[in-house]
Amino acid sequence: MHNDIEKFFEEPTWTFEYNNIPDLPKEELIDWVITQSGWPYLKIELPNCPYEEMLEEALSMYDAFQTHRTYGDNTKGWRSICIYGEAWNRTEYWETYEDNKGKQLEDIKFDWCPEVIEHCPITYKYFKDTYPENPGQRIRFMLLEPGGYIEPHNDRTEHYLGPINISLNMPEGCIFRMKDKGDVPMTDHSAFLVDIGNIHSVWNNSKEPRVHIISHGGFKPEVRELIYETVQKMLDK
Ligand SMILES: [Fe+2]
Repeated sequence: MHNDIEKFFEEPTWTFEYNNIPDLPKEELIDWVITQSGWPYLKIELPNCPYEEMLEEALSMYDAFQTHRTYGDNTKGWRSICIYGEAWNRTEYWETYEDNKGKQLEDIKFDWCPEVIEHCPITYKYFKDTYPENPGQRIRFMLLEPGGYIEPHNDRTEHYLGPINISLNMPEGCIFRMKDKGDVPMTDHSAFLVDIGNIHSVWNNSKEPRVHIISHGGFKPEVRELIYETVQKMLDK
């Protein structure tokens, strides 16, 4: 493993403490949490999410997963497939593709990927009918192979909560760490809004593949409700 990654995971695990939640009316509080709080992540409870079935469907496509963003030698075993997007194998941001140069967002067609939803009917139905976000540009299965790791990076410089990271499984030994913010306490069957403006890295130090879904959609009002539920639980403690 690359030295930088070993160093990143050198410190013992710790988790972020939520303090000083302001006394604001509901909608303002939700806005504050998303854009002002500086919180690195927030757990939400997704109602009726078929985690187990989605994991099975994803694993049934194991061989089709595409190598995703290799970052030179410093990322290993990170692979992806789009459930919704430009195409099943276009797992990167649309602007990074050579043949999209000069195009505008409205020139790109995003849709359910037939090659994937055919094999993943429960996943498709859940995201189409139940999931509390609009599909946006991409909904992707993200596979991190046993022993795989993702180089520490940030995906943007602004800080806010989003996208949603759905953990279909989190094998023991797999760590999702944010620089100076601690480890995201992901477990099997959990979902988090994550601020990927923080430097973060994942290391699957286990013998099992780790499969998550990342959704970059537009929040429906239901997501705001889920955020509020989580914050209420913190305040009730
Ligand atoms: Fe990232």
